[in-house]
Amino acid sequence: MLEQNIKKVLVSHDEIVVAAQQLGAQLTAEYEGKNPILVGILKGSIPFMAELIKHIDTHIELDFMLVSSYHGGTASSGVINIIKDLDKDVEGRHILFVEDIIDTGQTLKTLRDMFIERKAASVKIATLLDKPEGRTVEIEADYTCFTIPNEFVVGYGLDFDENYRNLPYVGVLKEEVYSN
Ligand code: PRP
Repeated sequence: MLEQNIKKVLVSHDEIVVAAQQLGAQLTAEYEGKNPILVGILKGSIPFMAELIKHIDTHIELDFMLVSSYHGGTASSGVINIIKDLDKDVEGRHILFVEDIIDTGQTLKTLRDMFIERKAASVKIATLLDKPEGRTVEIEADYTCFTIPNEFVVGYGLDFDENYRNLPYVGVLKEEVYSN
């Protein structure tokens, strides 16, 4: 059972659904008539993206990017490598990045700058979780569902060693699980 390795639930499934409903309503109003491309960053964004789009009641397109990041390094920090890019040109298009978490901010800062360079009509960010204490670069999401403390969280897309993404809530992992 996955639950036995969880110290506490930080954000419950019900809270996530309510937040996605509220954000979906906001996005419906914001993007009416703009046909935005919602861009999920693989793999962590999948559960949040799946819930969020159910609550957006206007035309949107979906796409995904896969990037690899080098966190915590010195020389390479801030560098991200694009493994899968979008399928189409974004010039003149409204882009909304959808993420599970912003931590150092490096992933989204790099992507946002890249899409401004690509001449997107607008570039915004929606994140399920924000961990402001982790930030090493200046970036804020336009839409944040939950601000969380600097703890090791898993679930709802977030992994430890590729596991726990399928938990239906966000929880704090027991220390003995990752300190062994
Ligand atoms: C996580 C998360 C974000 C990024 C945020 O992805 O999904 O993409 O880290 O961190 P940052 O703000 O410090 O850049 P990860 O690279 O762990 O890949 P995953 O989505 O496959 O888990």
